[in-house]
This record gives sequence, structure tokens and C-alpha cells, in this order.
Amino acid sequence: MLQIESLTKRFSGLVAVNDVSFSAAKGSITALIGPNGAGKTTCFNMIAGATAPSNGRVMFDRHDITQLTPEKRCDLGLSRTFQIMRPLAGMSVLDNVMVGALLRTTSLSVARDEAREILASVGMTSAADRSAASLTLPDRKMLELAKALATKPQLLMLDEVMAGLRAQEAERIVAVLQTLRASGTTILLIEHVMRIVMSLAEKIIVLQQGEKIADGSPPDVVRNPRVIESYLGRKGAAA
Ligand SMILES: Nc1ncnc2c1ncn2[C@@H]1O[C@H](COP(=O)(O)OP(=O)(O)OP(=O)(O)O)[C@@H](O)[C@H]1O
Ligand SMILES: [Mg+2]
Repeated sequence: MLQIESLTKRFSGLVAVNDVSFSAAKGSITALIGPNGAGKTTCFNMIAGATAPSNGRVMFDRHDITQLTPEKRCDLGLSRTFQIMRPLAGMSVLDNVMVGALLRTTSLSVARDEAREILASVGMTSAADRSAASLTLPDRKMLELAKALATKPQLLMLDEVMAGLRAQEAERIVAVLQTLRASGTTILLIEHVMRIVMSLAEKIIVLQQGEKIADGSPPDVVRNPRVIESYLGRKGAAA
């Protein structure tokens, strides 16, 4: 479903992502992990079209989408959440989700029904009529997910959507993701909570200082000495 080839992003004087290639199979969950500043979000931004790569290309469902706008990529079925949440603050929660749904229908009533269904699936029915600006952090995270789901993505990209959530709230998202995978949606997620990564992902990609240092099955990646040294060891020490 997704293949990135030699993606590189240089910001003046800093190589944030350096020659990174990986793929995500249709209907699978792939996790992108690594220390703060490793280049994970920059990678997402290049895949979603928010940042133009300095080099490399992005293949989506075998098409080269590297030059397409984010809107066109979304239209093709690629949707992402933002690490720094971006609700349409002046609008209600329901209207925020409807904006996503209106990508696939011109009917307000169809979009409203779909938005209500999606809010129910993430446990946010009671917040539907509240202003998006008034939401607490966990609900903002849920809204971010709901907005992305409303566009009916084939590839859903989640940037730390479970960070800062309590275990019970994170479990709700895990359940939503498992249902999506079962229906054939491909998921790429950036996540620091290893328990969640290990329980969800078929494949883990590890970035460190812009470089890919591991790519494989969860058991193989967590045994990889470079991964332990650069990421897991440090997390273990901090825990
Ligand atoms: N627009 C930008 N201009 C300059 N430098 C940037 C820009 N965006 C990111 N960077 C730098 O690129 C590097 C990678 O950042 P990025 O946000 O991709 O990391 P990350 O792996 O998502 O980290 P975190 O886990 O903290 O979210 C960092 O050193 C960051 O400061
Ligand atoms: Mg990030």
C-alpha cells in the first residue's frame, strides 16, 4: 500500500531524515519508533505531502504521489493525524468530523450520519455538540482520529495519537485500530508506548537521528542491539 524510497529531508544544516526506505503492506499495522527528534514526524509530513522531500519518492498503491498536494493524497485515501492537534476550533466536534466526511459525499445529512457513527466508534457521542476548542487532551486526540477516519482512508497515519492518554483511553483506540485493520485499512503509527506497539504492529521501523537503524518483526527489532542501545535501553532506564 505504501512504499517510500530513499526519502531525505534537509533543513538548513540539519538532515532530519536521511535516505529512509520502507514499505507497509495492505491491511497491516506498521509502527515507526525512535527517540525524540529522530525524524518520525518529518517522515510523516513527507508521506502526507505537508513537507516536500529533498530527495526520494513516495509510492502509494503503486502510484508515485511525491508531487501531489496533501488534499489530492487525502482524496486518494491517505489520511493522517497531527502530533500537535489541529481541530477547527471555532466549530463543534460533530462539524469537525463532518468536514472529513464531506470529502466523500456532498450530502450534509449523509456526512452528519457518518460523523455521528464515527464519534460513537471512538466513544465521543456525548461530546458531539461541544466546541472543539473546549475539549480536554484525550478528547482532542480522539477527535483527531475521528476527523481522519471520516475521510475513509485506505492508509491511516497516526502521529502519537495515544500519547498522554490513560490506559483505558488508549485501549479504546487500540480496539478501533484492530477493527480497522480487520476491515483492510493499512495503518502506520508513530508511538512511544512499546506495550501498544508490540501488541498492534506486524512490523516496526526504527529511526535514529534521521537514519533507519532497524526494520522487521517486533520480536526481532526489540532484540536488535542498536535499537536497545539507542532507544529501548534509554526508555528502560527512564522507566
Ligand atoms: N520545519 C523544521 N525546520 C527545521 N528543523 C526541523 C523542522 N521540523 C523538524 N525539524 C528538526 O528535524 C528533526 C526531526 O524532527 P521530527 O519532528 O521529525 O522528530 P520526531 O522523531 O517526530 O520527534 P518527537 O518524538 O519529539 O516527536 C529535529 O531535530 C527537529 O528539530
Ligand atoms: Mg514527532
